Amino acid sequence: MRCGGVWPIWGLSPHVGLPNDGEKRIAGGRVERTRGSPSKRGWLMRKKRAVAIDGPAAAGKSTVARILAEKLGYTYIDTGAMYRAVTLKALRLGVDCEDGEMLGELARTSRISFSVDPHGRQRVWLDDQEVTEAIREPEVSAHVSQVAAVPQVRRWLAAKQRAMAERGAVVVEGRDITTHVLPDAEVKVYLDARFEERVRRRWLELKAKGHQLSWESVAEEISMRDKLDSERAVAPLRVAEDALRIDTTQLRPEQVVELVLQECQRRLGKWCTG
Ligand code: DC
Repeated sequence: MRCGGVWPIWGLSPHVGLPNDGEKRIAGGRVERTRGSPSKRGWLMRKKRAVAIDGPAAAGKSTVARILAEKLGYTYIDTGAMYRAVTLKALRLGVDCEDGEMLGELARTSRISFSVDPHGRQRVWLDDQEVTEAIREPEVSAHVSQVAAVPQVRRWLAAKQRAMAERGAVVVEGRDITTHVLPDAEVKVYLDARFEERVRRRWLELKAKGHQLSWESVAEEISMRDKLDSERAVAPLRVAEDALRIDTTQLRPEQVVELVLQECQRRLGKWCTG
């Protein structure tokens, strides 16, 4: 089947090399050890903080992660946007959605980055071109779960996500963040909502963007994505054992954020600020 291109807050080349634990970069590319000094250790501890959020489509993850990141002064990383960016590139280049090697190569070589506009909204960049709106188009939504199931794609995007999170003070949202990308994240949350409520939210979101899709077609798409996301062989959607599980069906985003902030206080204590 035919499927039809980042640096700024964040930009990572395919082969970016970041310092390991206990190291920091200094001028000239040399690496200086910082082990031993309590103040430097404290600095590193602060740098490492991560809040990981997983859950199925339209469970409210993006809204909650965005507000939470703003309140904590952390950087928000939308990993779904990265899978969408690779899918968009594949569609534009007419790459076969079943060609794992080629899709993996796209994931490895694509430069995907995030920036924040003057209104505080996150913008997504693919190979220096802004794709914030393009990656939300129905055609990308229709193919992204298939592309996200390709092991080579997951391998390269997970590596890029870990490299971004290395910088610390991040809220990272996706499907496999608590279980696979950042299993050692200090705060882990799984957001869920009843199927009908998730369809309602996605339908309203699409309608607000001018897409007149039927309720049934939105329900079908969400159900298909649930199936593909939870049944794929590599890093399927699962609830991490130590994740705080929240059913958002009856909750407003601010209420969910409050619950997650309480969890951050419990887990991060005094580090619960930017
Ligand atoms: O959250 P979203 O709808 O933008 O995600 C798009 C797709 O990418 C969705 O099918 C799940 C997949 N995805 C994933 O497999 N792993 C992630 N960490 C994030 C998203």
